[in-house]
Amino acid sequence: MRWLVVGGGAREHAIALALGRAEAEVVVASANANPGLDRLAVAHARVDPNDGAKVAQFARAQGVGGAVIGPEAPLAAGVADALRAARIPTVGPGRAAAQIESSKRFCRDLLQRRGVSGQPRWAAPSTVEEVDRLAASFPQPFVVKPSGLTAGKGVWVQGADFADAKEGAIYAKSILVQGGSVLFEEKLEGEEFSLMAFVTDSGVYPMPLVQDFKRALEGDRGGNTGGMGSYSQRDHLLPFVSPEDRDAALKVVEESAAALRADGLEFRGVLYGGFLLTAEGPRLLEFNARFGDPEGLNVLTLYEEGDFSDLLLGVANGTVDPTLLQFRRRATVVKYLVPPGYGGRAQAGGLLTIDEQAIENDGVHVLYGSVEAAGAGQVRLGTSRAVALVGEASAIHEASARVEAALAHVAGAYDVRHDIGTREDLAKRWEHLRRLRAPNAKPGPIPLSVAPPAAPPSSAAAPDLRLS
Ligand code: GLY
Repeated sequence: MRWLVVGGGAREHAIALALGRAEAEVVVASANANPGLDRLAVAHARVDPNDGAKVAQFARAQGVGGAVIGPEAPLAAGVADALRAARIPTVGPGRAAAQIESSKRFCRDLLQRRGVSGQPRWAAPSTVEEVDRLAASFPQPFVVKPSGLTAGKGVWVQGADFADAKEGAIYAKSILVQGGSVLFEEKLEGEEFSLMAFVTDSGVYPMPLVQDFKRALEGDRGGNTGGMGSYSQRDHLLPFVSPEDRDAALKVVEESAAALRADGLEFRGVLYGGFLLTAEGPRLLEFNARFGDPEGLNVLTLYEEGDFSDLLLGVANGTVDPTLLQFRRRATVVKYLVPPGYGGRAQAGGLLTIDEQAIENDGVHVLYGSVEAAGAGQVRLGTSRAVALVGEASAIHEASARVEAALAHVAGAYDVRHDIGTREDLAKRWEHLRRLRAPNAKPGPIPLSVAPPAAPPSSAAAPDLRLS
């Protein structure tokens, strides 16, 4: 079968690879040339991916049997509606249901009206006067969020991005005066995780959990980014997320899918809940209406044994065969190589020399994002996330070490977060949750219920992370 992939980043590269493993053909509609997609695709239209008419025309001309939309902007622009109008089964919601991502206000209104669990306290001021009143009364610390799409970079958190209520109000007003809509939300403490699920008329089908690293610099410092990397655990949970926590988050996704249906909004695609695990359980930070980037790279790497083409066709047609949900039981770590200064002032234009074969030989996968081909083994950096290295192993810290070793085969100037998936980072996050949940309890050993068989021994100096 032939599939249209809309979008030209590393997530779309991962989608195309998963389809290729199912022996499907891929054609691509994107504004940019992606060296990874160019290698795989049998045809490539250089079009504005948000232009539904042009994308549908290309899809028809290519005789595709299905389409999958990668990024959020084409979903918000109604490209899925244009493809469905052209009778092409499509993975991705139409414009109306995609508002669950493209309008945070729509999302919170819907979930509140339908009584969905796991929501934080929030408010949406409509005028600058209301912003001032809210800034004086909303419990601090709080978070200011533009309601619309911001590529993961618009959320400002008190204590990290602004100091006090007055500064938060200035940011909120700047959004309003530019014609945007804005939300205040309570700032919660905990650890973030992503739960993506295929959603159709017939149900909700969850994928392995992933933790994304949004800040540009190690130790979760620096500016917000689209995501510097991510990890997933062998048992499809996370070191700090129990089966009960996962079930509570899944309940939020299921209730939200039901809320969309109850409002008459069909959703056939990927619903991705960004959660914060707090002492009181998971709270929903936001919904996205697509595979996460980088989270999609983790889960798609694990999808090897099932037939991805059949799975996606089921999603697009509204009936999923649950036996096709076959994610291997391995840990994965994604680290993005980004242009120097990314997260602030990114320096585009530099060259990276990548020995892809040597990296693949070490069991690490190379996925291309914001780069263009620049001759044999070389790519030129754009302004965004450039190249993703995806390692897998039986434990998260081992997958992280594999990616670190693969960096020896990349020459050139780039930034990367070395801390993603290290034992030290995993221990810090586990301990953070333990302290939140039982602040006065004596620390015990990290539970071994999800330990891989070949566990490294614990020592006093290095925390026991066999669960990873
Ligand atoms: N990882 C964040 C996103 O995909 O929006």
